[in-house]
Order: sequence, then C-alpha cells, then structure tokens
Amino acid sequence: MQSRKNNKFNKLNKTKNKWITPLIIGGGLLILLVPIIWLGLHNWDVEESLSEVGYSKKVADATPEQPEISEPAEPPVKEDSEDKNTEEIPPKEEPAQPNPAPEKPVKEDPVVPIEKPAANSYDPDQVLPANPTFIQGILVANKRYPLPSTYAPGESKEAREAFEEMAAAARLDGFELVAFSTYRAFERQETLYNQYVEKDGQAEADRYSARPGYSEHQSGLAFDIGEKNFEQHWASPTFGETPAGVWVATHAHEYGFILRYPTGKEEITGYMHESWHFRFVGVGPATDMYTSKLTLEEYLEL
Ligand code: DAL
Ligand code: ZN
Repeated sequence: MQSRKNNKFNKLNKTKNKWITPLIIGGGLLILLVPIIWLGLHNWDVEESLSEVGYSKKVADATPEQPEISEPAEPPVKEDSEDKNTEEIPPKEEPAQPNPAPEKPVKEDPVVPIEKPAANSYDPDQVLPANPTFIQGILVANKRYPLPSTYAPGESKEAREAFEEMAAAARLDGFELVAFSTYRAFERQETLYNQYVEKDGQAEADRYSARPGYSEHQSGLAFDIGEKNFEQHWASPTFGETPAGVWVATHAHEYGFILRYPTGKEEITGYMHESWHFRFVGVGPATDMYTSKLTLEEYLEL
C-alpha cells in the first residue's frame, strides 16, 4: 500500500516539476517581454507607454512638482530680478551719487564760501565786538576779527622786550633797527585810514590800511620796523630788499615775530605785502609759521 501511495506521490511530484519550471521561465520571459513589446508599440516612448496604462497622472503628479516650483518661481524671480535690476540699479546709483554730493556742499558751504572770503574782506554787517578774539592763545585782528573800539592796551611790553633783543642781535650784524610805528589807538587808526581813503580811494586804501577797529596796531603787538638813517625805505616795499630788511625777515621768528603780510598771500590775509609790518606771536608759533611758510590765517585755520 505504501509503495502505491509513494508511486502516486512521485507521479504527482514529477507532474508538478514538469510544469513549474516552464511556468517560472515563461512567466519571467513574459514579465520581461511585455514591457519591451509595449514600449516598442509606443515608439519606445516611456511616457506615452506609461500613460496608456494609467500612469500619466502619476507621472504628471510627480513631474509638475518640479515645474510648479520652478515655473511659478522662475517668472517671479526673473520678473522680480529684472524689475529689481532696472529699479535697483538706478536707485542704487542715484543715492550713491547724491549722497556724497550733498555732503560736500553741507561741509563746504560754511567753510569755503563763508569763512574764506570773510578772512580777507570785510563783512558789511560786522559789529565791533565787546572783547578781542583769541584763537589758540593768539590774539587775532584782521578783516574778519575786529577789536572793540575801546580796546586800548598800549604797546605790548613782551613784544617790546623781544624787539629790543632782536635789535641788539641785528646791531651785532651791523643793522640799527627802529620800530617806527607800534601801538596805535582806535582813533589814531581812524584818522590814518580816512587820510588814505581820501588819497587813494577806499578800495585801494583797504589793501594796505586797516579800518578803525581792525588794525593789529591797536593790539600793541604789531611793530613796523625800519633801519635808522634809511627812512626812505620805511613803510616801503623796498625795505624787504635792503640787507637790514632781509636780516629781519630771516631772524624775526627767533624773537617771536612773524612777517604778517607776505608776498602772494593777499587773498588770505586781506592785505598786500608789507615787508616792514611784523607781528609778535611768541617764539613757538612764529617759528612754526616761518618754517611752514603759513600766514596767521592759515596757521589758525581761520
Ligand atoms: N597796515 C596794516 C594793515 C594796518 O593798517 O594795520
Ligand atoms: Zn604796520
């Protein structure tokens, strides 16, 4: 009985084995061939082939994610960036140009057009002040900074001592210096100025004579220097060409004096060159100004 059963079982197994192998192979081939044949039938186009079996939505759903992101993003980005390019460039350039420009006028306006002309010319609205102006410890008297009409200190003792010391040194070199005009009161300057205006007219007088209240001579610190027995050169441009005039121009700073109105600085000082007019400021500042060739206005940045 057992052997019959075994025989049946063996027959069944054999029958199974006969079919299973070809089925597996055939199935495998089908799985491989069907898509290939399908592709071939659809011009080897994957999308078309897939869309035929209902994958079009899935494909569309999958790919639009990229276009949807890129498409809506791209135009705005392009449009925005183009807009920004056309809009941003001008605004970027425009503020860049106007920004530095307004800064200059703002800075220059008060410094250049207002202060510089005032240093070498009179302000018609100027009122004489109650006190003299000191800048960096130095009294300033020019066409911008006048003195009070009541300011009457007399000749500066310190300046006189310095002058005498310089005159002694000049004497050793053979020059007898004379300070032929030093302190001048407000009223004296007024008389002198009016005489010069009458003689040469106001415009010309203003180039060499200070209006009352505006003269350094009223401060007691200005010394008009000449050489004894050479009066023809006093208060004359020729003094600067004499050996005595050259000596003073070269050594004055060692005693605290500066040549107050040098050649070529009329636009800064407001006065033509005066080779005889020296101003006491002290040895330190005088040496600085002599070395740097700066006028008092430039030195004090007036
Ligand atoms: N000569 C000079 C400028 C004055 O009068 O003070
Ligand atoms: Zn003078």
